[in-house]
Amino acid sequence: MIELGVNIDHIATLREARKGEHPDIIAAAKVCELAGAHQITVHLRQDRRHIQDRDVRLLAETLTTRLNLEMAAEEDIIAIAREIRPTSVCLVPENRQEVTTEGGLDVASQRERLTQVVAGFHEAGVKVSMFIDPEPEQVEASAETRADYVELHTGAYANAPQNEVMNELNRIVQAAARALNCGLVFNAGHGLNVHNLAAVAAISGLNEVNIGHSIVARAVFVGLHEAVREILNILRSADG
Ligand code: PXP
Repeated sequence: MIELGVNIDHIATLREARKGEHPDIIAAAKVCELAGAHQITVHLRQDRRHIQDRDVRLLAETLTTRLNLEMAAEEDIIAIAREIRPTSVCLVPENRQEVTTEGGLDVASQRERLTQVVAGFHEAGVKVSMFIDPEPEQVEASAETRADYVELHTGAYANAPQNEVMNELNRIVQAAARALNCGLVFNAGHGLNVHNLAAVAAISGLNEVNIGHSIVARAVFVGLHEAVREILNILRSADG
């Protein structure tokens, strides 16, 4: 089945609103795992606005599923990631002013440096994903760096006005086909929710989705366990 990574950054956003201990991020991760999530995803941002270094360490020690660490390809964060050794890292662009990750990583303009970053992670036994816009050039550049996965940015699709939705979906379909052709595993994420997920889940070859904000927002009303189950049910029907 298509696997689900639950991004729990915004559980930490709520905690950081009071700089206290609640809600407990490890408890949240455990609820997601018990509900059937296949992976927990967190973004250790350079400004540490939500997830803290200690969270990443504790998650690495306590998860029974996989830990996927989203991060900028910057030396200080790379050093932390290589020490903690999550199951995988997902390289994302980062801008301190942004509310959330805005665009995909421009792999094409920094393929040599990123090839070295990928090799460093492989040496440490960590898989690497490139979070990229669904563009052929970025897919091919990602393959050249020897990354294991591409995570196609679904934000433009999720935010598209009605008359643009099919175009945006098609860009993802094309990029996904190219990724598979290049020998990459294809994941997707950003802006996905119970309303727009089914069309993405129907794309052939999709391995995993990473979903954060919509699950945490929905959890306020139905609880975290149920919010995760709702998404898993959609992924299950896509398989069926
Ligand atoms: N995948 C990546 C690479 C991301 O940066 C994010 C946002 O942190 C997500 C998935 C999850 O996006 P959302 O919170 O919109 O579901």
